[in-house]
Amino acid sequence: MKLLWATDLHLIDTAATDWSPLLCAVDDETHAIILTGDIAESDQLLATLDSLADEAKVPVFFVLGNHDFYGSNIGETTRRVVHHVRGDDRLVYLTDSQPIELATNTYLIGDDGWGDAVEGNYETSFVRLNDFKRIDDFRDLASDHWKQKLIELGQQCADRLSSKLDQIPGDAAHVLIATHVPPFCEACWYEGKTTDENWSPFFVCGAVGRVLREFAASHPSINVTVICGHTHHDGIAKIANNLIVHTGAATGGVPEIEAELTIDEVGLSVKRLS
Ligand SMILES: [Fe+2]
Ligand SMILES: [Fe+2]
Repeated sequence: MKLLWATDLHLIDTAATDWSPLLCAVDDETHAIILTGDIAESDQLLATLDSLADEAKVPVFFVLGNHDFYGSNIGETTRRVVHHVRGDDRLVYLTDSQPIELATNTYLIGDDGWGDAVEGNYETSFVRLNDFKRIDDFRDLASDHWKQKLIELGQQCADRLSSKLDQIPGDAAHVLIATHVPPFCEACWYEGKTTDENWSPFFVCGAVGRVLREFAASHPSINVTVICGHTHHDGIAKIANNLIVHTGAATGGVPEIEAELTIDEVGLSVKRLS
C-alpha cells in the first residue's frame, strides 16, 4: 500500500490550481493522499478540498494548519470543514476522525497542532506571526492574552490526539501521525538546523510532543512515525527508538508531493520525492 504526502500547499486561487504535479504520482497502488495543513486560506479552503477530491481518484486525508484559518476564526472554520466533509468519503478531516486502520496493525491518526508557546522563550522572542493579525481569535484578543490562547490551542490538540492514541490496540505494529506543527524542537528545521528560543514558541507544539513521547515510551513495541510541515524546511528527527518525525519542505503555491509512504510486511517506510 502506498500513501502520498504533501504539505503546506498554500494555494490562493483554487480555479487556477493545476493539480498535475501532485496527481501524476497517483497510481493503482495509491491508497490515499495525506495533506499536513496550510492547504489554503479560509475563503478558498472548502473549494480547494473539493477541487482536489474531484481530481484525485483516491481519498484525501488532511489536517489544517494555521494559514487555513486566515480570514476567519478557528471555531467557525473548523465547523465549516467538519460539516462539509462529513458523509463525503473522498475527504477525511483527521482531526475530527477516529483512528483509521490502513493495513493490518497499522493505524493513521492526526490532529492540526499549534505552535503553543510551550517550547522556547515566548516572552523574549522577537517573533510575532501574521496569525495574530489574520486569525480573528487573536486579532480580537488583547496581546497579553495571546500566550494563554496558544497554550490552550496546543493542549486541545494534545488532548484529542491522546484520546485517539488510547484507542490504538496494544498489538499494533505502527502508528502514523499526521499533524501540521512539529511536535519537538528537534523536528523543527530551518536550513538544516533546528529551531532556537525565538522561533520554537510558534513552530513547535510542545503539548503534542509530550503526548507522543509518553505514548512511545509506554508502547515500545509500537513504531510511531510523525509527518508534519509548517516550517517549510525538511529534516528527519529520531526522538526515540520507536518515534521518528519527518518534517516537510514545501515552497507553497504548487501542489507537489513531499514523500511516498509505503506500508508492507517490513513496516512503514518514507521515501522523499521533493
Ligand atoms: Fe505553511
Ligand atoms: Fe503553518
